[in-house]
Amino acid sequence: ESRRITVPDITARKGGEPVVMLTAYTAPIAGFLDDHVDMLLVGDSLGMVVYGLPSTLAVTPEMMIAHGSAVMRGSRRACVVIDLPFGAYQESPEQAFRTAARIMAETGCSAVKLEGGIEMAETIRFLVDRGIPVMGHVGLTPQAVNHLGGFRARGRSNAEQEKITADAVAVAEAGAFAMVVEAVVEPLARRITELVPVPTIGIGASVACDGQVLVIDDILGTFADFTPRFVKRYADLGTEIGAAAASYAADVRARRFPGAEHTFAVRKPART
Ligand code: KIV
Ligand code: NA
Repeated sequence: ESRRITVPDITARKGGEPVVMLTAYTAPIAGFLDDHVDMLLVGDSLGMVVYGLPSTLAVTPEMMIAHGSAVMRGSRRACVVIDLPFGAYQESPEQAFRTAARIMAETGCSAVKLEGGIEMAETIRFLVDRGIPVMGHVGLTPQAVNHLGGFRARGRSNAEQEKITADAVAVAEAGAFAMVVEAVVEPLARRITELVPVPTIGIGASVACDGQVLVIDDILGTFADFTPRFVKRYADLGTEIGAAAASYAADVRARRFPGAEHTFAVRKPART
């Protein structure tokens, strides 16, 4: 019997204690986070922060399954959600179902997340009706970076606010159990959160949301290519990693490492 937080547990948090979510991509990091979060997201952000790709567009289902399985093995309490990667769900509800079912079957995760609003509502309904819990993702949708022309905040114009509000309502009506709201202005995040009956999980979407998510490498300081305004850095592990490597390198060059305590000796003959 699983002791994990469930999808209905998350939905029941609407308007209550904020939902805490972080991304994770590896078993050890999932283990460190597991006691402290409600949800772990195996985000397609791994393309950028783990693989050094310029965007999330080249991420594959195989990558999501490998990292999703690792996060499942490394955690036992958090509700684990895995992103559907670009190109593996947008073609049709059937394609989305095949990808989502494979990811869920091969990893044992609790739900999948997909980007998009009104245009993805039919697909969300198709998955939900067939046993796959879906988390939505509206506002800034990084898989559409080539349409958006970069990673800028959304909802600065009235037209954009109306469009994103309609997206959020469509995603909720299609049966999503929660939704990420990314990089939107505060009044829009507040309005969406008031309008939809499921938790909104904000990233760059103000404190008005029902929960928050951040990319783990952003809060730990292990991804420095760029840091969006909405990131708060809670540690500087990148600097610590560099310092550890420098100490090791100095020890090796000075023959201070390995020491006697790290060295195997021939065992003394046993007494008879
Ligand atoms: O891929 C990801 O990490 C995400 C979060 C930023 C919401 O989708
Ligand atoms: Na993502």
